[in-house]
Amino acid sequence: MEIKELLQGIKFSAAHPSVLEREALHLTCQSTDVKPGTLFVAIKGESKDGHVFVEDAFRKGAVACVTDMHSDKPFAAQLPLIRTENTRFVFSLLAARHFLHPSRDVGVTGITGTNGKTTTSFLVQHIFNRFSSCGLIGTVHYQIGNQIIPSKNTTPSAYDLNWMLAQMKKVGMKHCSMEISSHALTQDRAAHLRFRSAVFTNLTQDHLDYYKDMETYYQAKRKLFVKTPRPEKVFINIDNAYGARLAGEIYPRPFTFGIVNKADFMAHDIRVGLGGIAFNVRAREKLIPVRVAMPCLHNVYNVLGAFACAYEEGWDPEAIADSLRTFRGVPGRMQKVDAGQDFFVFVDYAHSPDAFHNVLSSVKKLAAKRIITVFGCGGDRDNAKRPLMGREAGLFSDTVVLTSDNPRSEDPEKILDQIQVGVETRPGKQVLRITNREEAIHRALDIAEAGDIVLVLGKGHENYQIVGDQKHPFDDRLVIEKLLRESARVGA
Ligand SMILES: Nc1ncnc2c1ncn2[C@@H]1O[C@H](COP(=O)(O)OP(=O)(O)OP(=O)(O)O)[C@@H](O)[C@H]1O
Ligand SMILES: [Mg+2]
Repeated sequence: MEIKELLQGIKFSAAHPSVLEREALHLTCQSTDVKPGTLFVAIKGESKDGHVFVEDAFRKGAVACVTDMHSDKPFAAQLPLIRTENTRFVFSLLAARHFLHPSRDVGVTGITGTNGKTTTSFLVQHIFNRFSSCGLIGTVHYQIGNQIIPSKNTTPSAYDLNWMLAQMKKVGMKHCSMEISSHALTQDRAAHLRFRSAVFTNLTQDHLDYYKDMETYYQAKRKLFVKTPRPEKVFINIDNAYGARLAGEIYPRPFTFGIVNKADFMAHDIRVGLGGIAFNVRAREKLIPVRVAMPCLHNVYNVLGAFACAYEEGWDPEAIADSLRTFRGVPGRMQKVDAGQDFFVFVDYAHSPDAFHNVLSSVKKLAAKRIITVFGCGGDRDNAKRPLMGREAGLFSDTVVLTSDNPRSEDPEKILDQIQVGVETRPGKQVLRITNREEAIHRALDIAEAGDIVLVLGKGHENYQIVGDQKHPFDDRLVIEKLLRESARVGA
């Protein structure tokens, strides 16, 4: 596409206007990806500033460079620089144009919130595949047609998002289920996508290392619902206080869902077991029984959100409910590890105080015997949540085994100290500290007796442990299976 076409409607000034007639063969904001004919967009990021690489980009054959900074370097006047404001926002528009706005042809369901994005996105994809063909972009992986691509980022760059949607369109996919992280919203990565549906799962404390307070974090999430173009349909969990607030702030009136507050999509007669959940969805005047093989009360919300999106596509509610019968769960989300042992083991990705509360309180209601919880907190990330997660673990568990969860550059023992402060607000619990995660899991499995529930929290589907700047292979599920098989307990 010609550069002037790409820039249509954007305010800019070009030092060498003839460059606007040239074709941009490629588009990137990464100087390492520049090839001859590329339009390079310099963006000031959090760790690197793309403006530093402008000369380098031209050396590699960039046709022009879009920048939002004034350069007084002598070379600047010689080069075809295009000056504009907020290159990050502009890049998102250029990416959508470069790929001919694929979100106009692929119906995107965008899901945001502190917890439940991945789970809801898998549910949406599963249900939509019954009626149509649905791709996936999120934390666990990306899926285009039958191709599964390992995930780099919950919500990748504007370029990758549009590239993937264009690929989905090419292979004939009609829908895409997409997680939208708050970081992506802050950085306008999805700013120029068109959303057929947007879902708000909840907002609770997390990422306070990145956002200075909850209000800033809320405003980041809110962007998805007030951006231009607006999502065609909006679905909000109004049992969450921020959800209720959001529902009152946007127009036209969104669809609501919940269990407690009166909503458009409500769950009634909820039954929760270790094997899954069953309830009736009330949608308009209809009551539709639903059964999903995924334990814990919070998953009722995830199912409701996904159900509501499918219902408003106009699909038969009985068929939607039927599709959920074959849902096999989400990797690392209350995933049961069963090697024939006489106690229960679940791996879950809970890594925020609210997720801890939900998983533990739900499991506590079902536990006939003891709960043994193994977990840690990530290093170099929000440390305010450490004692809060400790508190929840102490509240609902009989034994807490504190261990490492990506300590990164921090001293693992110091992280454990901060978690332990919270656990100790609940006296009388057995607290063990074993920084080596495999040994900690080993210990928990050793302690477990028939009927007990072992919860290994925090890593979910992750298959690594980051210590210092080294990424070591580590998968809770494989480690547990190995330890169970090695122990004499299996099949007893
Ligand atoms: N609707 C929900 N409400 C509260 N907690 C939830 C909900 N759904 C899932 N959780 C908890 O949060 C954890 C993460 O869930 P999930 O991966 O679906 O969320 P996410 O929003 O994609 O998280 P992330 O931003 O880390 O990718 C789960 O393992 C579970 O413990
Ligand atoms: Mg996720």
